[in-house]
Amino acid sequence: MTAPAEIKIAKGLAGVHSDTSRVSKVFDETNTLTYFGYPVQELAEHCRFEEVAYLLWHGELPTDEQLKAFEKQERAERAISPQLLEVLKQFRKDAHPMDTLRTAVSFLGVEDPEAADNSKAANLRKSIRMMAKIPTIIAADFRIRKGQQPIAPKAELTMAENFFHMYFGEVPDAKVVRCFDASLTFYAEHGFNASTFTARTIVSSLSEIYAAVTGAIGSLKGPLHGGANEAVMHMLLQIGETSKAQAWIDDALANKKLVMGFGHRVYRNGDSRVPYMTHYFHEMAKIKNGQKWVEIEDILSKTFIEKKGIHPNLDFPVGPAYYLMGFEIPIFTPIFVISRITGWTAHIMEQLEDNKLMRPLSVYNGVPQRPVQPISKRKAA
Ligand code: COA
Repeated sequence: MTAPAEIKIAKGLAGVHSDTSRVSKVFDETNTLTYFGYPVQELAEHCRFEEVAYLLWHGELPTDEQLKAFEKQERAERAISPQLLEVLKQFRKDAHPMDTLRTAVSFLGVEDPEAADNSKAANLRKSIRMMAKIPTIIAADFRIRKGQQPIAPKAELTMAENFFHMYFGEVPDAKVVRCFDASLTFYAEHGFNASTFTARTIVSSLSEIYAAVTGAIGSLKGPLHGGANEAVMHMLLQIGETSKAQAWIDDALANKKLVMGFGHRVYRNGDSRVPYMTHYFHEMAKIKNGQKWVEIEDILSKTFIEKKGIHPNLDFPVGPAYYLMGFEIPIFTPIFVISRITGWTAHIMEQLEDNKLMRPLSVYNGVPQRPVQPISKRKAA
């Protein structure tokens, strides 16, 4: 059964504008992404991630004084409760870190007495709490599954430095921290993508922010969305050597395989974040002796653009950059959450300002109406 001619079905909601938003915009002509009007590459160059978080929640970049007050608040919220640490210890050691993070964020909601308060002020406080605690959860979960003691956060460190400290027990070279911090800025926000739309949909029933973020984490995990940064690195490891890259991509093209880290629903002529993040990835490759990954990516990207006209997306340079920093692959998408929590919560607050319950329609294509038979008369289908 097909849809009646007067009804146009938008599979995957492609091309549908479901609302207005002032948080970010992609400019089709230049493929530029802006957050509250600022090009993301300029934000990555001139600001720390904390300033970008402030921008996404307040609509303006902070002054020095405002940033200090904001950071004081964030740093004071970094610790997680002994109860949550106990929960982390109960998880299966081979559970995916996105699943444990999703459960832990849901637990934060259960712990927070303000969870049900949907006022803007309470949602801002809860957003800062999640931004502060999510890195602690990810690092503690990682160490617990390795049989190591979690490392407590340090209030004198920036968010990026503190994550390295809690994960590895030390803060690396400033260039590595810079690359990580820039990746957080690039990942922070991207309009009505699948996870953000999930968050907006959940809160549109006047549910609450932890429920919305828990759902968003579930959505981000998929390899067509945030999970692509992990998938890119698995692909590069599978290729293994520069000498094998051309044959690998030729085979993928011949067999119409989905190649991770390429394509985008919104950008059709390249994602403007990619050249900037690629610059940071190349920096990492120099510092960490990772030239091989640069060479393999160059071959994949040149061939794919030339043969299919499909460009790499942000996950393409981010995957190997995180790998070279020493992070284990299943941590890549949780790191995306460290950043995207800011965009999600900005959208949740925006949705609540002028809310309308999300409730699209479908065209029914099931069996026609029929009578219910008593069980004694039913035959197995
Ligand atoms: N590898 C191979 N082919 C791809 C591709 C990729 N990464 N991305 C798109 N294509 C192909 C599609 O198969 C389709 O081919 P067809 O017309 O012969 O069927 C064509 O390009 C158009 O793509 P379309 O399916 O319209 O793109 P979309 O908007 O539905 O999908 C993504 C966008 C991101 C889901 C898709 O590009 C993808 O799966 N990419 C890989 C996963 C990834 O990197 N995700 C992170 C996104 S930021």
